[in-house]
Amino acid sequence: MLKLSIRDQRALVGEAELTAAIRDGVPALQLAQAGEERYADSQGWLNVDEWAGEEILANIERIASHIRETCDAFVLIGVGGSNNAARAVIEALADGSGPEIVYAGNTLSANAMNRMLKKLEGKHFAIDCIAKNFETLEPGASFRVLRRELAARYSPEEAASRIICTGTYGSSLEELCKTEGYTFVPFPTNVGGRYTAMTYVGLLPMAVAGIDIRALVRGASDMETALHTGAPEDNLALRYAVLRNLYYQRGYKLELLASFEPQFRWFYKWWVQLFAESEGKDGKGLFPVTAEFSEELHAVGQYIQDGAPLMFETFLDVEARQDSLVVMPDGKADYFDYLNGKDFYDINKAAFSATVTAHSEKLPCLIFDVPALDAYNFGQLFYFFQFACYISGSLLGIDPFNQPGVEAYKGWMFKALGK
Ligand code: PA5
Repeated sequence: MLKLSIRDQRALVGEAELTAAIRDGVPALQLAQAGEERYADSQGWLNVDEWAGEEILANIERIASHIRETCDAFVLIGVGGSNNAARAVIEALADGSGPEIVYAGNTLSANAMNRMLKKLEGKHFAIDCIAKNFETLEPGASFRVLRRELAARYSPEEAASRIICTGTYGSSLEELCKTEGYTFVPFPTNVGGRYTAMTYVGLLPMAVAGIDIRALVRGASDMETALHTGAPEDNLALRYAVLRNLYYQRGYKLELLASFEPQFRWFYKWWVQLFAESEGKDGKGLFPVTAEFSEELHAVGQYIQDGAPLMFETFLDVEARQDSLVVMPDGKADYFDYLNGKDFYDINKAAFSATVTAHSEKLPCLIFDVPALDAYNFGQLFYFFQFACYISGSLLGIDPFNQPGVEAYKGWMFKALGK
């Protein structure tokens, strides 16, 4: 299970204040645990079993195993919530045994599109067009390009058999599947994009990449149980939500998520979207940013330690020693002999501890102990942050499930494109 500790040498938030704020946050926790009528069309993720039950998992595994047998590459077409969770896990954990996973539908760059097409040259591939609202420009435009690519390579029947669409019931995407004979799987109507990790949206591409989706779902379910039971003062999501709101009130307008494991690179993107799109509204909200340490200690590290006090920091610290590489002497006078016999695992941990000590002189640091970097723990993290985001948004006084702010640019863009 995840654990959370606070390192803040200036003790910005005292124990009594935190206890009182947690007590005040209990109604928000209870509403999240029960689910709220006003958000009924966005809470299908609260009960993991609803969209990741046995029947759905078996269907996903069946489709995925066919793709793994017949394809060298698999194109995930989707943007934002329709791609981030799958990519976070695939890029962290996939062992390369399955088809190469190629990403499309997340860019309008001709250069990026051509690079993506180049990856498919000489490969048998299938595509999954994932779109809740099949009006989003990026996936719609990519889907068209990739359909034509399939049509150019295969018979109409074979091309159709290589197309999956993840769309909502009654949508134009479902209609297209019926007319053209594409495989259709449901995008939950009662789950918003960024909350869809444990549904067909996230799980099908992960299964194609060979991820143990059952372990992932088990992790999410166990986290669901943990966050829906027990005393409120022991509820980790409430504690985290309360802390981030307290820091926000104290003038810290950014939350920096950081880790010393580059495997979290794409998870950051998922996390940023979750919090930015859920909380950044009505002129409020912490701005989520991320840093890959130790590399970025040589870049933003300067600002964190010495720049304007804008942020507090949240670390993901992986406990398990999953890999090992010992630095051996080679008899050359490079002045790095102090590393002789030391394992990179321990060197990385030393860098982590030193960083927390240094940064906590300046800003509050929260540390999540993540037991291991595996599918089970990714499942835990997805559910944990989604649930915490719900509570945190409630404490902030915003609707964590809508995203009205993304419409403004779309109006101008569609006008420019003559839609
Ligand atoms: O979280 C959300 O709802 C959004 O970020 C969507 O996932 C994103 O805009 C993509 O939407 P769609 O699946 O409708 O193309």
